[in-house]
Amino acid sequence: MSKHFDVVVIGAGPGGYVAAIRAAQLGFSTACIDAWSNAKGGPAPGGTCTNVGCIPSKALLQSSEHFEHAGHHFAEHGIRVAGLSLDLEQMQARKARVVQQNNEGILFLFKKNKVSFFHGRGSFEKSEGGNYRIEVSGAAPETLLATHVIIATGSDPRALPQAPFDEDMVLSNTGALDIKAIPRRLGVIGAGVIGLEMGSVWRRLGAEVTILEALPAFLGAVDGQIAKEAQKAFAKQHLKIEFGVRIGSIRVADEVTVEYADARGDSQKGVFDKLIVSIGRVPHTEGLNGALIGLAQDERGFIMVDAECRTNLPNVWAIGDVVRGPMLAHKAEEEGVAVAERIAGQQPHVNFNTVPWVIYTAPEIAWVGQTEEALKAEGRAYSAGTFPFLANGRARAIGDTTGMVKILADAASDEVLGVHIVGPAASELIAEAVMAMEFHASSEDIARICHAHPTLSESTKEAALAVAKRTLNF
Ligand code: FAD
Ligand code: NAI
Repeated sequence: MSKHFDVVVIGAGPGGYVAAIRAAQLGFSTACIDAWSNAKGGPAPGGTCTNVGCIPSKALLQSSEHFEHAGHHFAEHGIRVAGLSLDLEQMQARKARVVQQNNEGILFLFKKNKVSFFHGRGSFEKSEGGNYRIEVSGAAPETLLATHVIIATGSDPRALPQAPFDEDMVLSNTGALDIKAIPRRLGVIGAGVIGLEMGSVWRRLGAEVTILEALPAFLGAVDGQIAKEAQKAFAKQHLKIEFGVRIGSIRVADEVTVEYADARGDSQKGVFDKLIVSIGRVPHTEGLNGALIGLAQDERGFIMVDAECRTNLPNVWAIGDVVRGPMLAHKAEEEGVAVAERIAGQQPHVNFNTVPWVIYTAPEIAWVGQTEEALKAEGRAYSAGTFPFLANGRARAIGDTTGMVKILADAASDEVLGVHIVGPAASELIAEAVMAMEFHASSEDIARICHAHPTLSESTKEAALAVAKRTLNF
């Protein structure tokens, strides 16, 4: 017997599970199907983000930062640590518990919101009686009928053709988060977000890390001044990054040998104990059977949607990593909520211009809105204000004065156009900037807001004052 739902969501990553909860809150009978299994074969909703992305990477970033602080920075605070050692098994077990808590949390939320959850792979079959028909394969196969379908099937890591992932020697994000013994020499291909975050984790834990990047410059999407500051900080940490390389053959035996041409075109060879390949991600639609119902995808495999996440098929929507736009958990969530509300006849809006980005390295890098380079290219007149953490009392007290806050505002109206931060707690500080931009605040608005003292957030206020060339503490 098939079961009918108003809304069926395929995929329970941050896009899908949030869409399902919002649809149920709005009074729709809602089901969510997800294929991810935990080590015991049970359901593990949360998608890439919860299982092999945002959450486990932040758990390891935190643990490895504690280790680095205990080894290198506690002494400055007058704390002596004798016999410091690393229990990687315990560190990985803690990470696994954090992931499991998140999986269980989502299952609890489904129950609380009366979302019916189906563990298995969902695939389209021929429509039936005006409804979309979806077969769920898995331990308990089901047939679901849906008035509306939200596809939230996420993305997969992109492999290099000459080195497919084996998750032992050549690692995607999945293997990179699950290394069992610290590699002496770790190679990373791609100095993007994953390369920097994972490179940081394993460097802090003792690996000698070399990152090979194809582009000639560091973090092309990041404001140039901020990227330069971050690059200086990473160089001090001995995170070795080679730019402008062209990867050639990769040989995998007891070690991984990467042949590449360096920026001058000279042949080089890197020999590593493990190799992480982090060169971007591709949309995941395998097994969905979208072609059967005529679902349109672009030449790169993304499901084609309009600005409101409508596909080419009536009542079929797609959100998150499987559609255009930044591959970020919070972007997927915003789209999920917006689609559920649109199905309910509401008029939600996702503002891509205020989607923040964060790279969780030390120092953290966070930004929202336009970079100085983009404003120049556009020919827009702007004023810039920067404030270094070196001049912030709280940063000095916590012993982390790397970096700055930078605010870019329209030269005539003073509206904030972009905020860029490299430094301590940038991931938290950026929220104020996002709020300001969402409310079309001017830099003067930020400068006139009372910020608690002593906090890192005073640097944001001071950067806003700097736009008008009237900082108080620098
Ligand atoms: P996903 O999270 O990929 O979820 C898709 C789900 O659909 C999966 O569970 C999959 O099993 C399921 N599925 C697919 N096909 C089917 C099917 N046919 N039937 C049933 N189920 C199916 N983003 C951030 O914002 N912040 C971060 O700190 C961050 N860190 C990251 C770290 C790493 C190492 C990686 C790899 C990514 C990180 N991301 C981060 C990106 C983030 O994980 C993704 O943008 C986000 O998970 C996308 O959400 P989604 O719901 O679109 O898809
Ligand atoms: P990425 O797009 O961030 O970086 C890939 C890097 O690899 C780029 O610098 C690119 O120039 C380089 N590259 C591509 N092909 C190459 C080649 N053949 N040789 C050498 N270098 C090459 O992709 P990444 O790091 O794989 O992450 C995927 C996505 O996951 C991110 O774009 C982001 O959307 C998401 N993510 C987000 C995080 C966060 O929000 N903190 C953390 C991790 C991932």
